[in-house]
Amino acid sequence: MMELIKLGAEAKIFKTKWQGLAAVKKTRVRKGYRNKALDSVLCRMRTKREAALLHKAKRLGVATPTILDINLETNELLLEYVSGVKAKECVENNIKLCKRIGESIARLHNAGIIHGDLTMDNIIVRNGNAVFIDFGLGFYSEKIEDKATDLLNLKKSLLALKPNLEREWKFIEKHYAKNAKQGSRIIQHIAKIERRARYL
Ligand SMILES: Nc1ncnc2c1ncn2[C@@H]1O[C@H](COP(=O)(O)OP(=O)(O)O)[C@@H](O)[C@H]1O
Ligand SMILES: [Mg+2]
Repeated sequence: MMELIKLGAEAKIFKTKWQGLAAVKKTRVRKGYRNKALDSVLCRMRTKREAALLHKAKRLGVATPTILDINLETNELLLEYVSGVKAKECVENNIKLCKRIGESIARLHNAGIIHGDLTMDNIIVRNGNAVFIDFGLGFYSEKIEDKATDLLNLKKSLLALKPNLEREWKFIEKHYAKNAKQGSRIIQHIAKIERRARYL
């Protein structure tokens, strides 16, 4: 029995069961317009990359769903189902959560992991802890520009919820800066990217 959670442009997500545990099956869907052989190579690459980054992040102490199974023929990833609430539903006035988010991103970035799709939709809050999902666009980089861009994505998704969440953003930034290598420089770089975008 599988229940469709999300039918995205990139992946189909089902809720299912694995050995009695609630699980999520993430299947990468091919984009019809691309060359078929190239398409399946890209799908496999993303599936592998997502699994590798989820696992690496977990080893760094950043909460992620456990990988239960991976099938590189069908490009399916079977993940532990994280039952909780999306960060976007509970971030308002939640300073403790903002601290957790800032600290976790610092851990990822300190290890050179760029999430690639940091949004308030890709963070699930379980027992007060921030669980990060959706690493399919992640990559390794030590560039300040890449780290700042990762953070700017999250900032935009937060402020898109409600423009008055500035204070929550400041807390995320503060705890990121406290814990990240070159944290203050990276935070300053966010403003540079924003300025650049305004003049374009
Ligand atoms: N391990 C998981 N536990 C619970 N829900 C999940 C899990 N993985 C994905 N989801 C749900 O499915 C949605 C889409 O999954 P995601 O990995 O973010 O794929 P997409 O690339 O389509 O955004 C998530 O926003 C979340 O609601
Ligand atoms: Mg997502």
